Amino acid sequence: MQNAPLLWGFLLLSQRKIGIIYSIKKAKVMDDKIVLTGIKPTGTPHMGNYIGALKPLVELSQNHKTCMFIADLHALNSIHDAKEIKQHTYEIAAMLIAMGLNLDNAILFRQSDINEIYQLNEFLMNVTPKGLMNRAHSYKAMIEKNSAAGEDVDAGVNMGLYTYPVLMAADILLYNSDIVPVGKDQKQHVEFARDIAGYFNNIYGETFKLPEPVISEDAGLIPGLDGRKMSKSYDNTIPLFAPSNELKKKIMRIITDSKTPEEPKNPDESTIFQIYKHFANESEIAEFRKMFLDGGMGYGTAKTILFEKIDSVLAPARAEYERLMANKSEIDAILADGAKKAGFVAAKTISKVKKKMLG
Ligand code: TRP
Repeated sequence: MQNAPLLWGFLLLSQRKIGIIYSIKKAKVMDDKIVLTGIKPTGTPHMGNYIGALKPLVELSQNHKTCMFIADLHALNSIHDAKEIKQHTYEIAAMLIAMGLNLDNAILFRQSDINEIYQLNEFLMNVTPKGLMNRAHSYKAMIEKNSAAGEDVDAGVNMGLYTYPVLMAADILLYNSDIVPVGKDQKQHVEFARDIAGYFNNIYGETFKLPEPVISEDAGLIPGLDGRKMSKSYDNTIPLFAPSNELKKKIMRIITDSKTPEEPKNPDESTIFQIYKHFANESEIAEFRKMFLDGGMGYGTAKTILFEKIDSVLAPARAEYERLMANKSEIDAILADGAKKAGFVAAKTISKVKKKMLG
């Protein structure tokens, strides 16, 4: 237990992940580095989220200590329905566990379960310049949209959204994180966490480590049904754990070009092949690629091959996911165990910070 607090952390949901794992390996993350990431429970994760975000985290957990939490407090600025946040929280946790998250290495917890997060958020508010928040991309996008629409610039902006980066800095600094894998859209937030750690250290002396963002270069490469990036906002997603018949219907809807079955096809431009790659082994991928290039395979056949592959690979995980979702107390127990471990570190950080700021 002594060294357990030499923690770890990690997680995040947007698009990133595969690249993150590669980048992390390249950066030779050692086991004594704390890797932390957070996933915001604002939707049911789909196949693009899984391939882009969750799968890399599951892989990372096989060999690295990681700390990952479900960022339910961050969801609050946009979702004001407790049931919805809770449901997505369970879905994300169940999905990670069902897909094989190694709980010997990963601490999985719910952000709001750690009371120290509210405290650190409040403490950090007092060393964070307001101007820093004004420069946040997400806030700037919002006020630009408002002014283009001729509205008050701050229309629809609550303080949760405005101070989002402070809470995120608190997440990162509370657990002494070294490495924070995130998608490109979150890079600025990790830089802000570094800035905020620096402001604090300048005033109160060396207290926080400066975290490093690790950004995926491959973000957003998973195509959806219409060939554009798979995203809830394009309504082109494939569910990860849909029943077989629903999965099949979706896959049959993938848009293709109008080549005849006889014509050779370019696998690298095919959504079918791009998705297949993430579920098959190397020899299967090589074989499927050849079938595209050789010609003689119609898109209908290609879709059936894709469906059968995904369906068989995901069947055991889908069963486990459904079992967990029907037994939420098991998920609660895992999250409670994670919270206990994370809370141990959090308490140490807070007592240090409180002493420095208030004596
Ligand atoms: N803001 C991140 C997102 O929207 C989620 C998140 C919250 C996070 N806290 C974090 C990610 C801390 C990394 C570290 O995807």
